[in-house]
Amino acid sequence: MLLIELLMFLACFHECLSSPTDHLKSYMLTERRADAFLPAITPSASPQPFLPLLAPSPLTPFTNSTIPKLSGLCILNFTAAQDLMIMTSIDCWAAFAPLLANVICCPQLLATLVILIGQLSKETGVLALNRTLAKPCLSDIEQILEGQGAGENLKQVCSIHPSNLTEASCPVKDDEFENTVNSSELLASCEKIDPVKECCDQVCQGTISDAATRLALKASDPLSMDGPQVLPEQSTRVNDCKTIVLRWLASKLGPYHAKEILRGLTNCNVNKVCPLVFPNMKHVANSCGNGISNPTTCCDAMDSYVSHLQKQTLVTNLQALDCATSLGLKLQKYNITKNVYSLCHLSLKDFSLQGWFCILMYLE
Ligand SMILES: *[C@@H]1O[C@H](CO)[C@@H](O)[C@H](O)[C@H]1NC(C)=O
Ligand SMILES: *[C@@H]1O[C@H](CO)[C@@H](O)[C@H](O)[C@H]1NC(C)=O
Ligand SMILES: *[C@@H]1O[C@H](CO)[C@@H](O)[C@H](O)[C@H]1NC(C)=O
Ligand SMILES: *[C@@H]1O[C@H](CO)[C@@H](O)[C@H](O)[C@H]1NC(C)=O
Ligand SMILES: *[C@@H]1O[C@H](CO)[C@@H](O)[C@H](O)[C@H]1NC(C)=O
Ligand SMILES: *[C@@H]1O[C@H](CO)[C@@H](O)[C@H](O)[C@H]1NC(C)=O
Repeated sequence: MLLIELLMFLACFHECLSSPTDHLKSYMLTERRADAFLPAITPSASPQPFLPLLAPSPLTPFTNSTIPKLSGLCILNFTAAQDLMIMTSIDCWAAFAPLLANVICCPQLLATLVILIGQLSKETGVLALNRTLAKPCLSDIEQILEGQGAGENLKQVCSIHPSNLTEASCPVKDDEFENTVNSSELLASCEKIDPVKECCDQVCQGTISDAATRLALKASDPLSMDGPQVLPEQSTRVNDCKTIVLRWLASKLGPYHAKEILRGLTNCNVNKVCPLVFPNMKHVANSCGNGISNPTTCCDAMDSYVSHLQKQTLVTNLQALDCATSLGLKLQKYNITKNVYSLCHLSLKDFSLQGWFCILMYLE
């Protein structure tokens, strides 16, 4: 856990210092096609289809929705979050769900759960479903999404259990909430976040953690508290309370706005900077330096270099973008000023998950 935090800090540190954050910013919260944001360092001759991270996929919606079989027991208002459910189905579309689960589908699905319950709480005043309702509701959500084209078994793919719709171990889930946390501060720091700055400053995330800790400690039994150390069950409790806090935020913000915020927060964990290890470029420099006298030799050297990079795994498109930029800067340092990417027909897809770009191109 500490290691993860340290890594996140380092990633964040790097991201804050190295300035090409403008492309990140425009990239993360817009629904535009991402080929508009190819880094200047890689002027790609022929823009490739590129799946935006937060956007609904460029796929056309499904031609054939099936009518879901609902339990009739769930009291969530699916109509109120219809657009969100459609977007989730697209993000979890059967063909891509396993491949993009952790990056696109599951964060969107978790946000959907939070928002549905948050919306419900506006009527019930309760920020959780009880155990009796959690199971049929989760099943209904899955049915609806599947009916709209999402992959089957999203519960398993995303490790979601009925308990994720309840208060789990968080002791506060109702009108006590606003007496326990500083709700005006919470709303103020989270109603508007800058998706890039937030990952570094953690203003909203910090307030959420504070609020969750307050909730978690509120009902902690003083008799069972032997000392100041945070017991394992308490950290689980804080975690469960974070979900409650997010639901409260979603109830105040409305479905669309809440989705933007929640996805912005998730992206702080997903969008690390380029995780590739760049091996020595000497071979490339020898072949491509001096104004590229022999393009074939140069491109062979580039191809072998990039295929070496491809053996390492990239998680997100944003990483591909970062890595293309980093490599571009490295090439510049080696005095390779010609546009090697365009000379050698390299594009972002060469830096990214192999295969699914091609599928996308065929679908368009
Ligand atoms: C849509 O579903 C119906 C019933 O399952 C089927 O008969 C029809 O061929 C499907 N249409 C398309 C375009 O897949
Ligand atoms: C569900 O939400 C829709 C749209 O916000 C609203 O018109 C409808 O009255 C709600 N249904 C219930 C049962 O609250
Ligand atoms: C669960 O919540 C529903 C709706 O609020 C309520 O009708 C039902 O009685 C509750 N069940 C239990 C076991 O508390
Ligand atoms: C969902 O519930 C499981 C166990 O009930 C828990 O381990 C997991 O952390 C929960 N997921 C989220 C996102 O809260
Ligand atoms: C809530 O937070 C704000 C801003 O940090 C502060 O000014 C205010 O006094 C706090 N309210 C309570 C009740 O703690
Ligand atoms: C790149 O060119 C500059 C100026 O011509 C030179 O000083 C530098 O040593 C060169 N760098 C490499 C890695 O060859």
